[in-house]
Amino acid sequence: TSSSDTFIRAELISFARDPGDGNTPEPGSLEHYGDGLLWLKGQHIHAVGHFAELSPSLPKGADVLNYRDKLIMPGFIDTHVHYVQLDIMASYGRQLLDWLNDYTFPEECRFANHAHAEALSNAFLDEMLRAGTTTAQVFGSSHPGSVDAFFTACQKRQLRMLVGKVLMDRNAPEALMDGVSGIADSERLIEDWHGNGRLGYSVTPRFAPTSTKTQMDAAGALLRNDPTLWLQTHLAENSGELDWVAELFPGSRDYLAVYEEAGLVGPRSTFAHGIHLDNGMRKRLADRGANIAFCPSSNLFLGSGLFDREAAKQTGMTYTFASDIGAGTDLSGFGTLKAAYQVGQLGGQPLTAWQGFYGLTMGNAKALSLDSHIGQLAPSLEADFVVIDTQATSLLSRRINHCTTLGERLFALMMLADDRAIYETWAGGQCQHRRDK
Ligand code: GUN
Ligand code: ZN
Repeated sequence: TSSSDTFIRAELISFARDPGDGNTPEPGSLEHYGDGLLWLKGQHIHAVGHFAELSPSLPKGADVLNYRDKLIMPGFIDTHVHYVQLDIMASYGRQLLDWLNDYTFPEECRFANHAHAEALSNAFLDEMLRAGTTTAQVFGSSHPGSVDAFFTACQKRQLRMLVGKVLMDRNAPEALMDGVSGIADSERLIEDWHGNGRLGYSVTPRFAPTSTKTQMDAAGALLRNDPTLWLQTHLAENSGELDWVAELFPGSRDYLAVYEEAGLVGPRSTFAHGIHLDNGMRKRLADRGANIAFCPSSNLFLGSGLFDREAAKQTGMTYTFASDIGAGTDLSGFGTLKAAYQVGQLGGQPLTAWQGFYGLTMGNAKALSLDSHIGQLAPSLEADFVVIDTQATSLLSRRINHCTTLGERLFALMMLADDRAIYETWAGGQCQHRRDK
């Protein structure tokens, strides 16, 4: 033991694997310690277990943080979010294509200014940590400096983050289009940042309508050249978008084929939305091991449609949970799960709390191929976790105290909790955020 050891006594909840769709988690999937001990060594988790079982092995005089009235879970993960859109959340009344033109593109132009990119990177990370999110896959703007600023801000806080510069060489304002420099700038960012500590690069063609075939092919070449890179883009979100893609790519049999032909569909690829897909496309995504980022608050806000989780399950297609700020209305993982439950109800497929919290942690980590680092409270994983205060508000406290089972408590949290319930957020073994009293 050394001064780098931290001991926390709290209720601990984590998932070793998918709990299934039942009302109770499948045996071996849930790890729950009502009176648990989380033992950190430096940036990693050293041991996890029942306090009574682990306490004999604690060093004499160990300083144990007493969080017995709190609930600790792995840090929440957001697989699709635009940090550059923080300031245009809640922009009224448009569906996707008008929303992009009227609000999004003008806002993203501001990131040519490096001071602005730095300020927004820090503001965004403050909000993420306040909401209990420790890892995200993030869109910058098309300016490479927006990604330098973001990585720099993440590095200061020891966060595990994926981000990429938007590639966009047509059908966008002049000031946002990159042309041939887009790929060279991506290569430079990969060289500087990919695999640097906890940071990773996600190749980021915005979506098929704003990249030429040439640019998408070049993005595919980057991925072939380095299979440790991630890929993020958008797919089949909105009906106007579908018509536009069909018009722009008459030779491709469907929207997904456009990405397949460029070599963009693989096990490290995340496609945001995937609402308007058929089972053939879902199976093709499943075969390649790609995932769809389900962004329920965004889909409701832009009126895009209802994601079909049941079809995903039937076809073996992996889906993840994401906020999609600035079209999303909630940075909080709780808020994302609440919206996912509501979308599910409209399709006769209500989301269980087990699926929800598994998804937000281990499920999202696995889909991003990050589960050997994060997503679970387990020895040797990185010490990224949230300390949840289930008594944060009088209403939450009343409701939680009315629950008799863990499943009910988690469901009440998923529907009623927000950033006020995040007491602390830890990353890399250190407390990075503590709620104001
Ligand atoms: N499709 C292309 N760009 C975007 C974006 O910024 N947000 C969303 N929700 N969909 C997109
Ligand atoms: Zn998006």
